Amino acid sequence: MKKSKQDLVIAIDGHSSGGKSTYAKMIAKELGITYVDSGAMYRAVTLYAMENNLIRDNIIDGQELVRQLDQISIEIIFNPEEDRYETWLNGRNIEKEIRTVAVSNYVSPVSKIREVREAMVDLQRKMSRDKGVVMDGRDIGTVVFPDADIKIYLTAEPDIRAQRRFDELKQKGMEAGYDEILENIMDRDHQDSTRDISPLKKADDAIELDNSSMTPEEQMVWFMNKLEEKFG
Ligand code: DC
Repeated sequence: MKKSKQDLVIAIDGHSSGGKSTYAKMIAKELGITYVDSGAMYRAVTLYAMENNLIRDNIIDGQELVRQLDQISIEIIFNPEEDRYETWLNGRNIEKEIRTVAVSNYVSPVSKIREVREAMVDLQRKMSRDKGVVMDGRDIGTVVFPDADIKIYLTAEPDIRAQRRFDELKQKGMEAGYDEILENIMDRDHQDSTRDISPLKKADDAIELDNSSMTPEEQMVWFMNKLEEKFG
């Protein structure tokens, strides 16, 4: 039976700041389905750890964080005024706080913790139960939705990703230097791809797209062609 576009599960994985969320949001809008930013959930756990004194002298108290996992409630809520999905932590909108360089610096080690991953994967599957979804992250096509209808592995050169992130933060009025961002991106690439549990890797059945020199509109044309090829 032909699947309706509203029921599609689309997984977008790739390195940090590769434009996954912009792409995923555009696809979600085009198809009229939900968008879930899985990285925002790991960022929310990281912010919780920072605010609850579980990160001291660059060391994360993983054991205590795991003990407190059931006190962490994360929601992704659509804000029609801003026309975007926002992340809430224990009833508080934290969309802005989770994008800071400080959170970016700690999120990779936090997301290496097995129990944190298990809790987030559970939540990600619950958020998309019985409905179409576009989810972006690192392990969506490999672990979260191995049976996703379309899997895209998005890549771009590190300096291009750093420049995009720099422009994005600047536009939001947030402080950060280009060199610091590039360093953070390279470090996260390494940590995300080499960790033991659910490392970032291209799923065997994912289609790779290098968007280094593509506009968002060109990427949408590419996507709609793939969709047409696969589902007619
Ligand atoms: O997509 P992002 O840069 O906001 O993600 C932040 C971090 O969260 C990233 O460095 C690794 C982690 N992450 C993960 O381990 N698995 C995911 N599915 C999504 C993000």
